[in-house]
Amino acid sequence: MRFSYLLIPLAFALPNLASANTCEVDVSAGDSMSYNTKSIEIPSNCEEFTVNFTHTGKLSKEGLGHNWVLAKSSDVNALANAGSTEGIKNNFLPQDDERVIAYTPIIGGGESASTTFKTSVLDSDEYYSFFCSFPGHTFMMRGTVVVKD
Ligand code: CO
Repeated sequence: MRFSYLLIPLAFALPNLASANTCEVDVSAGDSMSYNTKSIEIPSNCEEFTVNFTHTGKLSKEGLGHNWVLAKSSDVNALANAGSTEGIKNNFLPQDDERVIAYTPIIGGGESASTTFKTSVLDSDEYYSFFCSFPGHTFMMRGTVVVKD
């Protein structure tokens, strides 16, 4: 497992320019339990893929925080259950759990975080999903991740 993330105050975030680099995507969520997308496509020629996640709301991360987590679809419910007792300091995720392929920390309104992962970890015969691990959010906040030629 390999991941990295950056926390950037939104005021200092770069303008959201259309980019020639399609090996990244911008995802957002606000003061409700929903992402702005239900599906993310990763071009098969990307060696790495980056998700730039922004909380566009005003609520704190303790009140209505969100994150972006990537896992096999079949692991999502178990990870959400296992993470629910981990607390916000552990981003409501089980620690050092290989089922977590990539994740951003839980963020609050006005914050952004990114995660980059190698696409070689994705098996073309497997189904993948992204979700928010904040307790109570996972049922509403999830979508599919597919590698596309
Ligand atoms: Co959430």
